[in-house]
Amino acid sequence: MTQDELKQAVARAAIDYVVEGEIIGVGTGSTANFFIDELAKIKDRIKGTVASSEATASRLRGHGIPVFDLNDVESMAVYIDGADEINAQGAMIKGGGAALTREKIVASVAKKFVCIADGSKLVETLGAFALPVEVIPMARASVMRQLAALGGQPKLRLKAGTDQPFITDNGGELIDVAGLKITDPVALEENINQIVGVIAVGLFAKAGADVCLLGTADGVKILSL
Ligand code: 5RP
Repeated sequence: MTQDELKQAVARAAIDYVVEGEIIGVGTGSTANFFIDELAKIKDRIKGTVASSEATASRLRGHGIPVFDLNDVESMAVYIDGADEINAQGAMIKGGGAALTREKIVASVAKKFVCIADGSKLVETLGAFALPVEVIPMARASVMRQLAALGGQPKLRLKAGTDQPFITDNGGELIDVAGLKITDPVALEENINQIVGVIAVGLFAKAGADVCLLGTADGVKILSL
């Protein structure tokens, strides 16, 4: 099976976690896109969605699925999203698709986080994937120095094909921190959250996934975390 077929399989399996008549939190990225396409098939059975990025909102609307402003939603039964890495405890690195801040916000309002990922995303130790950190642009250099002091190699994410910074949906910039061997994800998330100028860090450890649907050659494995 190709990686896309594995992503499609977990996206299909995630439909079992959609609660009828409810608002569903929807993530960002290629796996989340497959999920949106599956959700479209049962769109009449949900009240609507909250999107974790402009790209996701536009794909949902393209399918005729209602998208609510999070400020108008008090609670959500479930948030469904991919990950760049996940460990056996449900801690994740996210933000490869640049939506980490909104993903964290939407997930924080949902009762359950269902992670959907192809098997390659399951790791023993987080950190081989460079950790994304969203920053206020004027704090970029200062935050990069502090991330380097934590032992990482920070690099500003650039807009593809340019030498200009990539700008997020929130007007922030992204620093990708390579070379971290994250043995205590909760502590690192807390440390980075405390750096002035950081909007959010793509470590989802204090509040990680509750369930992970992992696409493997032997079928979709369910990890209850
Ligand atoms: C976006 C994310 C994505 O969930 C993560 O990058 C995984 O993406 P994909 O499903 O394309 O592999 O965190 O900000």
